[in-house]
Amino acid sequence: MPDPAERAATLRALLNHHAHRYYVLDAPEIPDAEYDRLFQELQALEAAHPELLTADSPTQRVIGKVLDGLVPVRHAVPMLSIDTETDTTAAGARKFDERVRNALKFDADAPPVEYAAELKFDGLAINLRYEAGVLVQAATRGDGETGEDVTQNIRTIGQIPLRLRGMDAPVFEVRGEVYMRRDDFEALNEAQRAKGEKTYVNPRNTAAGAVRQLDPGGLVDKKLSFFAYGLGEVRGWELPPTHGALLDAVAAMGLPVCADRAVVAGADGLITFHAAMGAKRDALPFDIDGVVYKVNSLALQRQLGFKTREPRWAVAHKYPAQEQMTLLRGIDIQVGRTGKLTPVAKLEPVFVGGTTVSNATLHNEDEARRKDVRIGDTVIVRRAGDVIPEVVGVVLERRPGDAGEPFDLYKKLGGACPVCGSAIVREEGEVDWRCSGGISCPAQRKQAILHFAQRRALDIEGLGDKLVDQMVDGGVIRALPDLYKLGVASLAQLERMADKSAANLVAALDKSKRTTLARFLYGLGIRHVGETTAKDLARHFGALDRLMDASLEQLLEVSDVGPTVAQSVRTFFDQPHNREVVEQLRAAGLQWDEHDGTADTTPRPLAGKTFVLTGTMPTLGREEAKAMIEALGGKVAGSVSKKTHYVVAGEAAGSKLDKAQELGVPVIDEAALRALLGS
Ligand code: IVH
Repeated sequence: MPDPAERAATLRALLNHHAHRYYVLDAPEIPDAEYDRLFQELQALEAAHPELLTADSPTQRVIGKVLDGLVPVRHAVPMLSIDTETDTTAAGARKFDERVRNALKFDADAPPVEYAAELKFDGLAINLRYEAGVLVQAATRGDGETGEDVTQNIRTIGQIPLRLRGMDAPVFEVRGEVYMRRDDFEALNEAQRAKGEKTYVNPRNTAAGAVRQLDPGGLVDKKLSFFAYGLGEVRGWELPPTHGALLDAVAAMGLPVCADRAVVAGADGLITFHAAMGAKRDALPFDIDGVVYKVNSLALQRQLGFKTREPRWAVAHKYPAQEQMTLLRGIDIQVGRTGKLTPVAKLEPVFVGGTTVSNATLHNEDEARRKDVRIGDTVIVRRAGDVIPEVVGVVLERRPGDAGEPFDLYKKLGGACPVCGSAIVREEGEVDWRCSGGISCPAQRKQAILHFAQRRALDIEGLGDKLVDQMVDGGVIRALPDLYKLGVASLAQLERMADKSAANLVAALDKSKRTTLARFLYGLGIRHVGETTAKDLARHFGALDRLMDASLEQLLEVSDVGPTVAQSVRTFFDQPHNREVVEQLRAAGLQWDEHDGTADTTPRPLAGKTFVLTGTMPTLGREEAKAMIEALGGKVAGSVSKKTHYVVAGEAAGSKLDKAQELGVPVIDEAALRALLGS
């Protein structure tokens, strides 16, 4: 047995190393499960020997207690602000360089000043205080003199090391920006939308709010990131000669430092950097509102000194803002490729985030209502990166007396899809309205064809994404049944389509005509009718006409068909256009065996039973197990709920197993499953 103190130290070092690989370098060396194992070993060790617990232990990144208020922290070295150059053209950089040269009394033939150029991150400034290499305090900037203690929240940010590498100076303060990546922000809002809850306005406000919140529980779903860009108080460490070298040293200690930085010469170097980052801005994974130029030499920085609150050696050079106000002229409804109806704001064109925007998404009806947008309002539009521009809010003070009514999607469309006229539906618990036209709605054409052609549906070999795009965009196909009118000649006209592939596709189409009712039903893309339900419906009704004419009550008699599925099937076949498409497909020669709906005598001992599979089973593969369960009438679901009958758990079963235990769902292994299947 190794000495517990030694083992704890080893584990801490290992975990800190792997956390750096994972969070900062984004290049893990070990699987997550191995990290978890080491983590749990350390946790157990610390529980057994509380005296071994240290402030830099990775186990201390836990969610702490709810605070009454944030405690003020006086900064040892004030946190300064920075001069802002709002002239977004090259002239902004020249003006700064000129000021620096004048202040340094450089004459015209003196060599260019060397600058460290970096990004201006759009988040919240934080001072991290390390003593003897261990994080002891994190504070916000506040008014620059006094900030707030946010140590507890900052500790939850995986990218911020609790211990620095190769640094044990008595005091080492690092300054930088806590921010939220755009993808993390989008994921957070997606989750809010799915729950029908209020969305966050932008990554910066969200990050700032998260860092300053009193209840650390609220941080669980907010993934924050950090970039270091400077130092505060330092005792017992000799500063390198330049800012660039200083950031290199900070990166070597394990802190994230943005790679998009450069040491450049003179105004021309600054201008090049400003342009290069401006071009790259949309592709960055986080928001920036400009770049920052700093005189690279720390000696020259000292010589330049400060004005009241800003150093003379630095400036922020802005880019066009990513949020702007403009007028809401109208609201259109867009039909997506899956039939989802999205309200889109029609705007007075406005320059935002570097381009002119005249359309912005309102996401869904509830969100439009929560934001209370009305035609005639002044709204705030955000466009950042490649994210679709969106309306993030209304400026209520500017609402005119004749502003429109609160938004009502159904009323606006008179209940009909603006593209195909089919009924629109919004199911209980869903946030989106949808067109029920499916296969007959031109907006959903590509999606419908791809779904229809899938291996598990009509299995039309060779009919993929690109080809469908080409055929639909080229007007070769206007509706699903056109597929079966295709000839080799018309196909061979398409770009990149050789005669032979055209002939192959025609043959594949021909072959697909001989199918099963279940595959055909699944291929129609009726909402909520997946492969299993399609099989259930086919088996129960035996014939398409009987299914199409079935009442809600008759549909509900099918095993495993509940009100949502029944209603969805009914709505689908109530749309005259959908019926037409079905008839045209039949007329094109699609055929399958039918029976009278009573001939089904296959024993289905697992009918009505829902299984969830998790982990790796000793001999059975997932697909195999699924097929066996379904063959006996059972169902396999993706997530555990109260309605799950069995969870089949193999090796390394994860959260589904926890959930099963939490809900009291029986958990069985492969052997028990085989027994069930055999009986
Ligand atoms: S240096 C003495 N560098 O901009 C200069 N600040 O007023 C101190 N910021 O909210 C700041 N990116 O958090 C510096 N690369 C960067 C920065 C940066 C963003 C923020 C900073 C503060 C504001 C400066």
